[in-house]
Amino acid sequence: MSNKLSHILEIIVVFVLTVLATVLLRMYVLNNDVLLPQAASLQAWNPSAPSESIDWLFSVQWSLVAFFFSLIVVFMLYSLVRSAIKYGNQPDEEGSGEYFEGNTPLEIFWTAVPLIIVLILAYLGANTLAGVERRDVQALEVNIIASQWNWQFEYPEYGVTSADLVLPVDRQVVLNMRSEDVIHSFWVPEFRVKQDILPAANFDSDYARVLRVTPTEQGEFKLRCAELCGTQHYAMLAGVSVVSSKDFDSWVLESTGCDLSDAECGQRWATEYGCVACHSVDGTQIVGPTWLGLSGSGVTLADGSTVTADIEYLKTSILDPNAQLHEGFNPDIMPSNFSDRLSAEQIEQIIAFIQSVGE
Ligand code: CUA
Repeated sequence: MSNKLSHILEIIVVFVLTVLATVLLRMYVLNNDVLLPQAASLQAWNPSAPSESIDWLFSVQWSLVAFFFSLIVVFMLYSLVRSAIKYGNQPDEEGSGEYFEGNTPLEIFWTAVPLIIVLILAYLGANTLAGVERRDVQALEVNIIASQWNWQFEYPEYGVTSADLVLPVDRQVVLNMRSEDVIHSFWVPEFRVKQDILPAANFDSDYARVLRVTPTEQGEFKLRCAELCGTQHYAMLAGVSVVSSKDFDSWVLESTGCDLSDAECGQRWATEYGCVACHSVDGTQIVGPTWLGLSGSGVTLADGSTVTADIEYLKTSILDPNAQLHEGFNPDIMPSNFSDRLSAEQIEQIIAFIQSVGE
C-alpha cells in the first residue's frame, strides 16, 4: 500500500472512531435518568420552543463537549497504539519527530474556530435565558421565607401559609424569596432553575430575589436548600406538590380556615410556621427547648431565676423570645417577629397545642 493511501485510511479510521465515541458519549448522558432527572417545568423543557429551554441548551453544550473530548482522546490513543505497534521499544530513525517551528494558518484556525463557537454559545445562551425568564402577567404569586432550617410559603392572594409548596400545573408561579438569617438556596432539580436566597427584611428589599417557574408535570417533588447554611442544612427540605388547578383550588379552600379543636389548629400553625423545626414534641433537644412536658414545668432562665411555664410565660416566649431566655439556649436564634406573623387566636391555639404535648 502506498504511503499516501495508508495516510488517508488512517484519517478515515480516526474520523469514524471520533464520531462513534461522540455519539455514544452523547447518548449515555442524555438518556440517563440519574444524571438528568425528569424535566417537570416549561423552563426545563418547552416543547413548542425547544431552544428556549435549559435541557435543549444542555444537550447542545454536551454534544460539543462530547465531540472535543472524543477528538482528543481518540487521536491520542490512536497515536499511542499505532507507534507502539510500529516501533515497539526501539524507535528507529523514522520514529523520531521532525523539528518545525510555527504554523501561521493553523494558529489562525485554532483561534478563529473557538471564537466562533463561543460567540454562537453566547447567542444561544442569551436566547434560552430570555425564554426561561419570560414573564406571564397571570402568574400565581408565592412568597418564600427561608430560615435556619425551615421553609415557609405564603400565598398572599389567598391568605394561606403552608409548610409545603403546592402549585397548580401549567400556570407560571412567581416566587418572591427572602431569608431571615443566612444565605439559603431554592432548588428543585426537576424544575432546573435555581436561585440563592439572601437575607432581606421584606419582599420590597433590593436583596429579595425572584424566580419564575411553570410546572408542567403533576406529582411530588422535593425542594432542597442548595447553600451550606449551618448544621441542619442537609435537612432543610420541603415537599413540592404539583396538582391540577381543580385540586389546587380545593387545597386553598381547605387551608384558609381551621375548624378543628384549638390544640389541633395550634399543631397546624406550629407546623406551617416552622416552630417544630426547632422545638421537638418528643423530648429531643434541637436548637430550641422541647415542648414535651414544658407546659406547667419549672423553667430555669439564663439569669438563674426560675419561672413556671404558664400561659403568660409561653406567650412572652413566642412574642419576645429574648425576654425570658431558657437556660442553655442561645439568644437571637428564634425569630422575634411572630407578633406580626401570627394572629392572637393563632398564638392561643399554639399555646393550647404546647399544653397538650406530654400532658
Ligand atoms: Cu438552608 Cu442550606
